[in-house]
Amino acid sequence: MAVSITRRTLLAGSQLVFAGAAAGLMPSQVLAQSRPQSRSDRQIRDGLIRLSANENPYGPSASAVEALAEAIPDSWKYTVRQDQQLKKLIAAQEGVSPAHIMIGAGSGEILRIAALIYCRNDREVIAARPTFTFLQTYARNLGARVIEVDLDSDMRHDLASMASRVSAATGLVLVCNPNNPTGTMIEGVEMRPFISEVSRQTTVVVDEAYLDLSEDLAEHTAVGNVRAGENVIVSRTFSKLHGLAGLRIGYAIAQPETIKQFERYRMSILNIAGLRAAMASYQDRGFQQFSRMKIRESVELVYGACRDAGLAYVPSRGNFVLFDTGSSVKAFRAAMRTRGVLVGRSYAPYDSWCRVSMGTVEQMKVFADATQEYFKA
Ligand SMILES: Cc1ncc(COP(=O)(O)O)c(C=O)c1O
Repeated sequence: MAVSITRRTLLAGSQLVFAGAAAGLMPSQVLAQSRPQSRSDRQIRDGLIRLSANENPYGPSASAVEALAEAIPDSWKYTVRQDQQLKKLIAAQEGVSPAHIMIGAGSGEILRIAALIYCRNDREVIAARPTFTFLQTYARNLGARVIEVDLDSDMRHDLASMASRVSAATGLVLVCNPNNPTGTMIEGVEMRPFISEVSRQTTVVVDEAYLDLSEDLAEHTAVGNVRAGENVIVSRTFSKLHGLAGLRIGYAIAQPETIKQFERYRMSILNIAGLRAAMASYQDRGFQQFSRMKIRESVELVYGACRDAGLAYVPSRGNFVLFDTGSSVKAFRAAMRTRGVLVGRSYAPYDSWCRVSMGTVEQMKVFADATQEYFKA
């Protein structure tokens, strides 16, 4: 069972630790024995249900919480080479060597390093519109030009248009798969030849932050292109399926030479708690299955709410759904807020469409009722 850590929990925890020390117990042993049982306040901020940031309130897994408690006494150490074990686990799963992997402070760090290496000084980034813009914003600040290619009529990446924009000035091509905020996915059979072709001319970055939310990850991932020796960087995260966004662990899978270069641009030393929690969660297949199942249940519930209210929605591979409010998203957000629900925003050019992230199934029922009420009025 996982923990919701509040100041009061921490104070209570430290008192327990002192009492435990008197009884000859290590702090980790005491904390492991005293975990609170409640999940009821998950994903609630200022009394609002938080459905705006694509988090996963079912995390962390009980195994990750256990690992966290055990990591706390080791917090005095720098994590030099302590990422090796996690790299080995990922390498074995993905059929690559540990030298193909870098662990970062979230996949955000991986995306920023890619911008730092490939997008300085008037280089161009080719990316979809709309998509996740972390890399592009950073690249712009480094003096790069961002070429935005509209999604196709099914709100999927338009790979042919993206490929046609590649030139000698291109620093990298970014594909977010599945795409945030639409939840659409390019299938492996389409993605693999695209990468093979484009990576002969420039670097391809594939952001797979949400791909492991589906069982068929192996069928659609770009890791096969890495195994084939191509110039592609696959970016993944522990923030979504594993529900560890606050612990900042992500990773890149790429050619060993690329990984060496990425390591030279690293901005942070990894945190020990995040590393240990990620290792536990990565091996916890039961939790991953549970997490997928709950997110799917919530997604289906949102589809149902949209259908009941007569709203169009995009079938999603993510832990979020984009749906058409038919008018101002600003007004919808404000109305939902007064009903205690914080939803996401719109993304140009889909100005009447709103992204909602998956909370717990119970929270999505609150969302569904509030949506029903809003569109009935
Ligand atoms: C598509 C995509 N990539 C990357 C990230 C960054 O995740 P993190 O830095 O937590 O790994 C996010 C976060 O929402 C995302 O939506």
